[in-house]
Amino acid sequence: MVTGSILITGGAGFIGSNFVRYWAERHPDQRIIVLDALTYAGNLANLSEFDGDARFRFYPGRIEDPTVVSGIFRCEKVTHVVNFAAESHNDRSMLDPTGLIGSNVTGVSVLLEAASRYGVERFVHVSTDEVYGQIHSGLFREDDPLLPRTPYSAGKAGGEMQVRAHVIAFGTPAMVTRGSNTFGPYQYPEKILPFFITRALDGKALPLYGDGRQVRDWLFVEDHCAGIAVVLEKGQKGEAYNIGGGNEFTNADLTRRVLGLLGKPESLIRHIPDPRGAAHDARYALDTAKAAALGWSPGADFDDALEATVRWYVDHPSWWRPIVESEPYQAYIRRYYGPTLGADL
Ligand code: TYD
Repeated sequence: MVTGSILITGGAGFIGSNFVRYWAERHPDQRIIVLDALTYAGNLANLSEFDGDARFRFYPGRIEDPTVVSGIFRCEKVTHVVNFAAESHNDRSMLDPTGLIGSNVTGVSVLLEAASRYGVERFVHVSTDEVYGQIHSGLFREDDPLLPRTPYSAGKAGGEMQVRAHVIAFGTPAMVTRGSNTFGPYQYPEKILPFFITRALDGKALPLYGDGRQVRDWLFVEDHCAGIAVVLEKGQKGEAYNIGGGNEFTNADLTRRVLGLLGKPESLIRHIPDPRGAAHDARYALDTAKAAALGWSPGADFDDALEATVRWYVDHPSWWRPIVESEPYQAYIRRYYGPTLGADL
């Protein structure tokens, strides 16, 4: 049982805001502190239901800013931390491979240092299955080597190395979760599912990279949140835990399912030259026995969860339309997809 205040960094982002909701429902007496830099993907609208809620407190700021971070630990008596704050998109990391180091590596170290200094009880760093690199057959286990292949996943692996070092050097009570590709409401429409759903709704072309045969393991966001919560409550210091949905699909198959649910034609699919090139991981898949031993398992039925997610975007244009019509979003789409999509942009 967790008592005291929980600091949820990156709590205005996709998985972070879903975790805030997940945690608040199950721990009605606990104070929830959110630190979020509100960069392009962080959005206070994701947390609007907490407006005026006395047990909720929002701080704008970056995790790599030691003044902001130690100020929060000093004022809020933080006992638990879950770190979601990160640059989280592979494609953007191809455009700016250095820009993510601050949040994905330095920020993790700043948070860990403050957690140790202020005597935090438990700390979960949210990482990704992408730190392992790609696997053509079989499943990744937690003791497999970290062999990241994109600037993004290398940054996340760097964050994990900070956790490892702080646990060993300072005894910081930290754990790592490695989640697979996550989907659900409030996901910024640059990741394949919300990107394709929102584009298909507008009758726009869907850019599938290469042959579309890359495989991802899809995890519903609520199951991801449940896995993180179990690790926060029961995980062992210094250990990493795979959190995967066990739902493997090729990108092409996933795209056809989305189009089917929306009643849109497959002629919207465009196979474009792969912008990730050699860095495009062919497949991710996780062995989740270690998290299962803590009592976690993914409960969502994939088809139901995908349908509910598609329905959420259909029902919430007021959430995603301002994003996709904003100039920064359009500038990114032009820059990343312009060379390959051309007139279909
Ligand atoms: P993405 O959602 O960016 O997640 P990740 O890179 O963390 O796996 O991409 C999921 C898969 O979808 C990945 O194999 C790349 C592919 N993809 C496309 O084919 N087209 C797109 O426009 C995007 C965004 C992704």
